[in-house]
Amino acid sequence: MKKAVLDMSQFDQNKLNELDAFIEQYEGENKKESLIPVLYQAQKIFGYLPHNLQRHIALKLALPSAHVNGVVTFYSYFSEKPVGKNTLSVCMGTACFVKGADKLLDKALGITQSKRNEITEDGQFTIKDVRCIGACGLAPVVTVNDKVYGKVSEKEIDDIIAKHQEETHD
Ligand code: FES
Repeated sequence: MKKAVLDMSQFDQNKLNELDAFIEQYEGENKKESLIPVLYQAQKIFGYLPHNLQRHIALKLALPSAHVNGVVTFYSYFSEKPVGKNTLSVCMGTACFVKGADKLLDKALGITQSKRNEITEDGQFTIKDVRCIGACGLAPVVTVNDKVYGKVSEKEIDDIIAKHQEETHD
């Protein structure tokens, strides 16, 4: 049977080598269990997980592409589209929603003049809504990259955005 060949020319070869070296360390291990760390590393290297990269990972781990895509789309941490320098996520789980998370999301989109899940014009932010992140006691919760903000008010969302804008502006 002919082996499927993926056109990976859109990707930086050094980055691909880095990813492949990472995948190799899982040689002989349960491939399904290595999928999450591999996806995490791939997103760290490339910034996002486009479909061809997901297929590449699926081939390397001998997993069905549909399974890989299912995991990528299930976890809100993973992104199939390019993201801004900062990813601001508003939790829309029940506890956060009843404390006004939808208003925080609208406000964040308004301030950055962006659309949900899309990169802002200046490349600074991607604003996303996510499922419960398990910090319900701090509702409503907003995260920017790895930083968690709890009990966020509408006023504070301005400050959070301004703070990260400053930190990442050249
Ligand atoms: S509902 Fe937002 S952290 Fe759980």
